[in-house]
Amino acid sequence: MEKVCIVGFGCIGPNYANALLKTKNAVLYGICDPKPEVRKFAEETYGVKTYADFEDVLSDQEVTSVHICTPHYLHFSMIQKALVAGKKVVSEKPITRVREEFDALLQLSEKDRVCAVFQNRYNPCVIALKKAIDEGKLGKILGVKGILTWFSDASYYEADGWRGKIATEGGAVVINQAVHTLDLMIHLCGPVKDIQGSVFNFTLQDTIEVEDTAVAHLNFENGARGTFFATNGYAENSPYFVEVVGDKGKARYQDSKLWINDELVLQEGTTAIGKSYWGTGHEMLIHRFYDEGERISVEDVSNTMKTLFALYESAKKGAERITIS
Ligand SMILES: NC(=O)c1ccc[n+]([C@@H]2O[C@H](COP(=O)([O-])OP(=O)(O)OC[C@H]3O[C@@H](n4cnc5c(N)ncnc54)[C@H](O)[C@@H]3O)[C@@H](O)[C@H]2O)c1
Repeated sequence: MEKVCIVGFGCIGPNYANALLKTKNAVLYGICDPKPEVRKFAEETYGVKTYADFEDVLSDQEVTSVHICTPHYLHFSMIQKALVAGKKVVSEKPITRVREEFDALLQLSEKDRVCAVFQNRYNPCVIALKKAIDEGKLGKILGVKGILTWFSDASYYEADGWRGKIATEGGAVVINQAVHTLDLMIHLCGPVKDIQGSVFNFTLQDTIEVEDTAVAHLNFENGARGTFFATNGYAENSPYFVEVVGDKGKARYQDSKLWINDELVLQEGTTAIGKSYWGTGHEMLIHRFYDEGERISVEDVSNTMKTLFALYESAKKGAERITIS
């Protein structure tokens, strides 16, 4: 039985606690967070051991697995330390804040103990759409469109000091919210060959030093072209939108429903915990990891992470085309 400690228990932490309650081969053993009020809540709600300091989690031999749910700038160093301490690691996205850290992660010999979190790959509509594509139902894939329109105002960024800063979040709408959209495009249609993109700050100039909006054009290795748009400057958090066009058909993942050739194929329920637009995938990902030995590996997310960082590089260089390498 794996004994899990959730490290960082803010917005996303309860999704993991809830998922672990339904897992056969793992239990929630501890919660680590420097905030005393968070530890008090964790003790009262889950009756588990708490830690103020991550070093104490590392030295606790009872803990066999850690879930990294901390601000982005802490991910890589925590993953590295946890692996050295012999733990398994489930890491929230983005698995690293910058490309250099991701390259270093790829070099770690213990990286096969890491499971990356892109839980939307487990959304029922995404599973069905991937199957349809892999079975050739859409024919040769010609294009994919990913759109994310969410709402985050100044209060969201001001509530937690790490958000909206290069050094701690690494960016904003792309690295935090729309990285899921980018990942779905790549998960469904294969690796990206090159990308050109631009970022803007339309609505939060007085609040964040990074982007609230981004656009990109992507060329996939299979010849498909991609169109990507993301903003935190909309009026609400709309469900994910991904459209895939093939030479034999077209599919749309919209409003948590899957349409293939304008026929409604599947409709997802909403998540029992957290926000509906986070999807229901955390539960499935945790179940598959502990109960079925399946994981999203560092290699599995490699093209997504490299494309993400290439988009920022392209934006910095005036929308120059960046080859993914
Ligand atoms: N997959 C998803 O859909 C999804 C959704 C939301 C958040 N996330 C990701 O989860 C992570 C956390 O985001 P959040 O929104 O919960 O942030 P948050 O700010 O609400 O929570 C982060 C928590 O980490 C704690 N923390 C800070 N430093 C720490 C340390 N050294 N040791 C232990 N804990 C520490 C903070 O006290 C805080 O409670 C991010 O990587 C974010 O991108 C993923």
